[in-house]
This record gives sequence, structure tokens and C-alpha cells, in this order.
Amino acid sequence: MIKRIAVLTGGGDAPGLNAVIRGVVKTGISTYNWEVLGVRDGGEGLLSSDFVLLGHHEIRNIASQGGTILGTTNRGNPFAYPIKEDGQVKLVDRSLEAVANLRRAGIDALICIGGDGGLKIAHRLAMMGVKVVGVPKTIDNDLWATDQTFGFDTAIQTATSAIDRLSTTAEAHHRVMVVEVMGRDAGWIALHSGIAGSVNAILIPEIAFRWDVIAQFSQQRSEGGKNFSLIVVAEGARPSGGEVILQEEDETAGIRRLGGIGHRVADYIALQTGLETRVTVLGHVQRGGTPTSYDRVLATRYGVEAAHLVAENKFDYMVALRGTQIVPVPLAEATSRLKLVDPDCEIIRVARDLGICFGDAIPSPLAVRT
Ligand code: F6P
Repeated sequence: MIKRIAVLTGGGDAPGLNAVIRGVVKTGISTYNWEVLGVRDGGEGLLSSDFVLLGHHEIRNIASQGGTILGTTNRGNPFAYPIKEDGQVKLVDRSLEAVANLRRAGIDALICIGGDGGLKIAHRLAMMGVKVVGVPKTIDNDLWATDQTFGFDTAIQTATSAIDRLSTTAEAHHRVMVVEVMGRDAGWIALHSGIAGSVNAILIPEIAFRWDVIAQFSQQRSEGGKNFSLIVVAEGARPSGGEVILQEEDETAGIRRLGGIGHRVADYIALQTGLETRVTVLGHVQRGGTPTSYDRVLATRYGVEAAHLVAENKFDYMVALRGTQIVPVPLAEATSRLKLVDPDCEIIRVARDLGICFGDAIPSPLAVRT
């Protein structure tokens, strides 16, 4: 019988984390009379038994707040925990410690709110006998098995409003404005904010772009009397035959930080065409701040339904949005692959019909764009 549960936020934050926590705590206390603990700083808290009791007081007014009241980290993977030995970083398996700490604290079940990496860890803990339920989180919206992760809607609102602002200054100065957005493997943020912001080109990881096409497209727009252009680039976009641009990579420590493609694209266009270019890297602005009402509602539903799964003894599952319903999906299936943009999907076709260039070919001159 379940008496005490814990909730954990792991990996990069996403707007809506606090709404999930609130949903879990309210349902756990009011519907099931459980004691609900929070794990501080994700995997780090599991390994140091940093648990905090969550009551109605702790969750008051948190649904509208960005970040997470529990703290989070990318570096607390108990199966590959980085330690320094003789000046070298090596990864060690500390999962038995994490499981023992949960048992010692009398925690009967764990709700893990995570992205692909965090949910893979959750599944591995479940294989070791921990009663785990997962909640899909990431602004990138790249989790397979759910129609939408919470955090994505807020991220695209932020990116769209930035594009709207950049559009007016781009037009005033007759410039090519390049906006780099997040999306390491999937181009959902670039695609949605790009269409919403009526941009001229969108570069995403799923469609390799050609340097000559990007330059020629910008040139043609300029020669055709369009005296400014807006280009959205996902951080994971790469040229045909080329690699993604990294800011930092440390394989041993499991670090792979993307960024820089926006500058490369702008520099190339400037060099080849002589057009004046500017770059804006939105970065973590997309992850911060208050969640949209859509994300608050979705995150709350995820939290409440995750608590119900615990009560139903349905472990090693993740709550997922399918159409209008929240349904359970096995964690193994949910983490088996990423949800990438299909280059032939309807939304890409819509964008191409609008004349948006994806960098693989110059759009048909018949497509009318403003
Ligand atoms: O996974 C979400 C994400 O926003 C990625 O798009 C991005 O590459 C990454 O987080 C950056 O995370 P951090 O700066 O926390 O390492």
C-alpha cells in the first residue's frame, strides 16, 4: 500500500514544472492521503537523500512560476555520475545508492518529471524495482509517445514574440535577421515559431540545408525588392554533409552543448551576398519565465494523472497526451525514440506552400510571400 511518494524534477527546466508538482501534491494529499516529498536538485538529491516534505503551503501560488521549486540539474545521473579522480572526470554507477536512499526514506513510489534522458533513467530505476511514473517535460517537444510536452507552448510563445520584435527592426534597417532557437535534435520550436512569426526561412535538424541555397535565397529576396529577411535556425540545424556546431563537448562527463549555427549562417550570407546581417540567440530566455495558460493546464493534468497512476499501481509508465486525453504509455516505449519533424509532414508542406525556405531548395517563385 502506498503511503509516501516523492516527486523529482530532472534535466533542463521547462515552464510548467511547478504546475506538475502542484498537481501531484494536491492529488496525493487530498485524494489519497499520502505524504508527498520533493527530491531536491534531481538525481543529486536522490544520491544525497535530500528530501523535503511538500504540503499545501509549499505549493501555494506556484503554478504560475517558471523554474522548479525543487531545483534541477543535468549532472545527477545515478547510472553515470561524474566524479573527479586524479584530475580526470570519470562516470560511476551509483544507482544502488539511489535505490537504497529511497527505501531508507520509506518512499513507496517516485514520480520523475523529465525529458528523454531523465525518463530513460526513470525506466532503469523501474527495472531495479523502484515504483516509478514518468511525466514528459521539455521545451523541445521531442518526446515520442506524447502529442505535446509541457514547456513547448511557452517556448514557442517566447520565440514568436522575439521574432515579431526582430521583424520590425529588420524591416527598418533592411537587414537579414537570423534568430537561433533551441532544439538540439528536433526543429519543433523553429518550425512553429517560424510559421507563427511569418519568417522567410527555417533551418531545422531534420532537413539538412545547403549553404548556396541559403545565400541565393537571401540574394533573390533582396533583388526581388524584399528588403529584409527573417531566418529562424534551430541550434541543431546542420548543413548537408556537415556537423552540428558545438559550444562545449566532453564525452566523459556527458556534456554536449550546442550553439553557434546562427552566427555561421549570418556570416555566410553576409560574405556571399554583401547583405547586412544580425544574429539573435534566444537561448535560455525560451526556458525561463511564467508558463502560458496552456502549459499550466497541461502540466497540471500530467501531475494529477501521474498521481492517479501511482494509486492504480501502474508503474514504469509515463503520462502522455493523445488527442484530448491523458493516457499511460510504457516508459520503455516512450523513450525508445525521439519525436522528430517528418520532412514530409503536413505542417512542413504548409510552410513550403507559404514560400518558406528550408535551405534544401529555393522555394517556387509562384509562392507569394511578403
Ligand atoms: O533539452 C532542452 C534544451 O533546451 C535543448 O534544446 C538545449 O540544447 C538544452 O536544453 C540546453 O540545456 P542546458 O543549457 O541546461 O545544458
